[in-house]
Formats: sequence, C-alpha cells, structure tokens
Amino acid sequence: MIPPDFVPYDDRYEPAASPEEAAEAFCDRMRRRRSVRAFSDRPVSRRTIEWLVRTAGSSPSGANTQPWRFVAVGEPAVKRQIRRAAEEAEHAFYEQGAGEAFLRDVKALGTSPDKRFLEVAPWLIAVFTLTAGDDGSAVYYPAASVGIAVGLLLAAAHHAGLATLPYTPSPPSFLASILKRPPHERPFMLIPVGYPAADCTVPAFARERKPLEDILVVHE
Ligand SMILES: Cc1cc2nc3c(=O)[nH]c(=O)nc-3n(C[C@H](O)[C@H](O)[C@H](O)COP(=O)(O)O)c2cc1C
Repeated sequence: MIPPDFVPYDDRYEPAASPEEAAEAFCDRMRRRRSVRAFSDRPVSRRTIEWLVRTAGSSPSGANTQPWRFVAVGEPAVKRQIRRAAEEAEHAFYEQGAGEAFLRDVKALGTSPDKRFLEVAPWLIAVFTLTAGDDGSAVYYPAASVGIAVGLLLAAAHHAGLATLPYTPSPPSFLASILKRPPHERPFMLIPVGYPAADCTVPAFARERKPLEDILVVHE
C-alpha cells in the first residue's frame, strides 16, 4: 500500500552506454577538474550561475532540510571588499595563526595571502550553512549536506566548462558581515567561478590521487 503522500518513482535514468561505460566516462571527465587560483575576467552569465546553484540545491540533505544558502557576487565593488577582507585575514593567519605543518603543506600549492583571483573571477559564490531553517525549524546534518551540495556545484561548473576554487578563508566571518547575512547562516566556503587565466598553471602534485586500492575496501 503506497502512503497517500508518496508518488511513483518515475525519474529513472538509463544511460545510453552501459553503467560501466557511463561511470568511466564521468570519472574521466571529473578527474580533469582542477582547483584554479588564476582566473580570467571572461564573463559568465547570471543564468549559468543560477543553473549551477539549482544543481547544488538538488542535493540530498538531512531530512530534506536543505541547510544552505548561496550568495552569488558579481558586483565589482563587493568583490573588491571581499578580496581586501580575505587578504587581511590571510596575512594575519599566515603571520600568526598558521602552524608550521600547514605552511609546509600549502607551500606545494603555491598559495599566498594574495587573493587577486577574488576580484578577477566574474563570480564569487559564498556558501553558507544554515544552523536553523529560515523559520527557526531544525536542520539535520548541515555539514554533510552542504559538503555534498558544494560537490555537486563544483561538478556542475566543471561540466559547464568553468573553473572553480573551493576557498576556505580563515576565519571566514568577514563573509557574513560584508554580505549582511543573518545569524543563522555560517560561512562555509567561498567559490570563485569563471574561466582559467590564459597562463594559468596548477600544482602537479594536486593532480595526484590515491590509487583505488587505497580508498576502496570491497566485501563481495
Ligand atoms: C574543504 C576544502 C578546503 C580548501 N581550501 C582551500 C583554500 O583555502 N585555498 C586554496 O587555495 N585551496 C583550497 N582547497 C583546494 C585544495 O587545495 C585542492 O582541492 C587540492 O589541492 C586538490 O587539487 P584539485 O582541486 O585541483 O584536484 C580546498 C579544498 C577543499 C575540498
């Protein structure tokens, strides 16, 4: 007996290729995604950003509470403000907060307190975790839910031929104040979206991934 508020599952998707081929093709595509830290100023339409966020918003979430907000910033003056605040936070972090191990690890990435990409990329998507629903209702597994949503957003951008960077400023509190977000929204990540600069390079080591044997355990 189907409960009255259930509907038939009619969203079945049959890939043209076999599941193995489809999964392999998707993997080949996705493993070419790279985090980019040098963007071009080539424009990206607002409509594109809206589709990316719709994809993110299609994510599963704890009890479907959808504990996320995406704030898309294309306005140059606001991007400038964000860049300034991010660089200030980064300088303080690199000079005081960051431990030796962190500095060693990020050296290989070539990151620095210089965040000019925050002004150059046509869009910045600031992602916030909701600690409660907008009406004060409970949310469940917000961290896992927002992480999945961001994963889909990065995949959607890559699929659209766009580059991204999952950037986690430390501390990220300036995002809430600059973007005037209410107290139940906690900054999670800042994602510049755009095209890579013509001379963009990426750290070779960041392309390396653990082999399947190291990440997959099978009980068959
Ligand atoms: C949760 C998370 C936080 C990250 N924070 C930063 C960051 O603050 N700055 C940065 O330059 N890259 C950041 N990255 C990007 C990683 O350095 C990058 O994903 C990793 O080196 C692998 O490279 P790839 O994304 O090109 O495959 C972050 C990635 C994740 C998933």
